[in-house]
Amino acid sequence: MADDALAFDTVDVRPDTVPPHVDPERVVDYDYMNPPGMEDGDYYRGIKRLHQGPDILWTPHHGGHWVATRFDDVKWMQETWQLFSSHEIGVPVGRSPYMPLITDDPPDHSRYRAALNPFFTKRRAEEEYQPRVRRIIAGLLEELRPKGKAEWVSEFSFVGPLRIFWDFVDLPYDKREQFLGWGRAMFGLGGLEARLKAHAEMSAYIGELLDQRLDGDSDDIFTAISNWRHNKRYEKREELIGMAELVFVGGQDTVASQFGFAMQRLAERPELQQRLKDDPAVIPAAVEEFLRRHGLTHTSRLIKEDVTRKGATMKAGEMIMGVTGLSGLDERMYPDTFTVDFDREACPHNTLGNGAHKCVGAPLGRMEMRVMLEEVAKRMPIVRLDPDQPAPRAAPAPVLGLRNLHLSWEV
Ligand code: HEM
Repeated sequence: MADDALAFDTVDVRPDTVPPHVDPERVVDYDYMNPPGMEDGDYYRGIKRLHQGPDILWTPHHGGHWVATRFDDVKWMQETWQLFSSHEIGVPVGRSPYMPLITDDPPDHSRYRAALNPFFTKRRAEEEYQPRVRRIIAGLLEELRPKGKAEWVSEFSFVGPLRIFWDFVDLPYDKREQFLGWGRAMFGLGGLEARLKAHAEMSAYIGELLDQRLDGDSDDIFTAISNWRHNKRYEKREELIGMAELVFVGGQDTVASQFGFAMQRLAERPELQQRLKDDPAVIPAAVEEFLRRHGLTHTSRLIKEDVTRKGATMKAGEMIMGVTGLSGLDERMYPDTFTVDFDREACPHNTLGNGAHKCVGAPLGRMEMRVMLEEVAKRMPIVRLDPDQPAPRAAPAPVLGLRNLHLSWEV
């Protein structure tokens, strides 16, 4: 089958998943959990084909939804909460757990966000958390280096953010292994049942932990969230559990995926590793370039009012998904989109969101990526894709990630 046919195959659709007002030319066979063109494991090259069609598309998958593929449209839907509600943030609808903040619209959203903001300032990330993050990352790299090879996703990318989270919330030592297990089940490739079970167990435990920390005077974020119970505006226990869970979930697979994709690109092009070693001052620009190149989220929203954009007539009650992975590959914004180029002129990206829901953890996430690149450049020899192991494969998911990344290096 020709490449360009893949994204636009005729699909056998249920009539109710293509409403009559949708122009047939906009209908594509795009299932974000199993997109066409991923045969060689590269999600980004697979979905790039969607840019051959109209900017705003309709897919019949997952109950039917609109798909925004371009930088400007993704930004527009991220920013315009007046038209696009976060009460549904995934497709098919009705499956997203209640997590105050990310599943709220302003003005409710604003009161939760105001409570969380002070923990995620740039100053706090750099001054308070950065030395601890560096110790964790450096320790992990020192564990791996003598081995000469690693499956980087499970041995580094996944474990690093989890250990950072333990530290961040001061998780009791006897629960850390348990958390690792829940994390693996929730973000791993297990079935839906295993994910739901892990989520339920973790929620129950977080509830207990918040109860234990009520009236505590420790300065960790879970103690602070627990003490919001004294504030009339946050008195429901499940609100607090949802907030605490979001702090865990928000910084896990996102950072793990960024760690993984960045290492994949570095391993494919050793000259980029050499550049980081020779010129560490370029690392902040490298962080932005990796973020641009690897949009991860399938930002979804419930359309609140009928709206027409670029000829697409969208109706209230329908869902729209902004594919940030495609937004970062928009050739109208970025020349030579697939190439990682640390010298690219400063360019905005949508990977960390925009508007009211712009990632609250952005300063922390950026710092974690920077520290990871600094420590890899300092401590690791040149790493390569392990020729004796399977090639890396992306793992399509609401937050895109890597299934595996086998690396090797000289010891
Ligand atoms: C570098 C990796 C990261 C990426 C790519 C990322 C991406 C995003 C995006 C796109 C959003 C907006 C979602 C939407 O519009 O519906 C978001 C929101 C959020 N992120 Fe991140 N994130 C990252 C790191 C983190 C970290 C380290 C934390 C810390 C715990 C975090 C916590 C959150 C929270 C709590 C929200 C909800 C904000 C709100 O609804 O107001 N993220 N993130």
